[in-house]
Amino acid sequence: MVIRKAVIPAAGLGTRMLPITKSMPKEMLPVLNKPVIHYVVEEAIKAGIDDVLIITGKGKRAIEDYFDRSFELEYYLKERGKLEELKEVEEIGEMVDIYYVRQKKPLGLGDAILHAEKHVNGEPFAVLLGDDIIISQRPAIKQLIDVAEKKGSPIIGVENVPREMVSRYGIINGDPIEDGLFKVTQLIEKPSPQEAPSNMAIVGRYVLIPEIFDVLRETPPGRGGEVQLTDALQILLQDHEIFAKQIEGERYDIGSKLGFIIANLKLALMREELKTEIRDYIKRTLEEVLNE
Ligand code: G1P
Repeated sequence: MVIRKAVIPAAGLGTRMLPITKSMPKEMLPVLNKPVIHYVVEEAIKAGIDDVLIITGKGKRAIEDYFDRSFELEYYLKERGKLEELKEVEEIGEMVDIYYVRQKKPLGLGDAILHAEKHVNGEPFAVLLGDDIIISQRPAIKQLIDVAEKKGSPIIGVENVPREMVSRYGIINGDPIEDGLFKVTQLIEKPSPQEAPSNMAIVGRYVLIPEIFDVLRETPPGRGGEVQLTDALQILLQDHEIFAKQIEGERYDIGSKLGFIIANLKLALMREELKTEIRDYIKRTLEEVLNE
């Protein structure tokens, strides 16, 4: 199994970040001076992906404009000798081959993935959800691709979460195979803490096989009345082995206010030109807070 293509569903409404997401896709929320989807596309490229399909929906034009060339802007920057900025802007337009398909109705993640069927064209493919950034030594999706290519099976990225948080995620149960790797035995979308078979939560990274499309077509709407990828994977499990791997790295959910702020701070601390000032600011603020 060789994985060359990635699918990034970016059609969700972003209700947790309203009102900003009323007129701006959640995938375009800034983490420092780049939108979150930039980091996600970068992760795919670092994992060896050379073909990216973004599933968009209503109000997502800004994503296409972002990855497109902008000749007016490039001309303006060149005229004014702003060469560093020019280079950065040009590079975005040339990152990778990006294709788009539009989900016409917000019928859920499972339905969004179904829109990738033609483009994927019978190949296994990676899925990266467009609102999670994972900072890690080895790109998170690469960690999954390596196992999927070896096993020839679909694989899901997971992370242990506190019990009281399980209802925000798809939860898996599985038999341990080796350190951090499980053979999945059950998947359930957003269970209550009582229903959850474990605290292993699905993070937004998967490697899937084309057989998932036939299953998705038959998957009835689940949680929230939406076609859930988790439910389709539970059905796929009847005929296919599925693995789950605990992702090594730190995940930030930019679609939540807390995740958004923490990711901005964390990445600022990693930037040479910002880190001293940010560190000083955090130190001063901490002293103030502790003295309150
Ligand atoms: C989706 C999936 C869920 C997964 C989560 C990870 O949910 O349906 O299984 O745990 O992404 O971010 P959403 O966050 O879109 O509600």
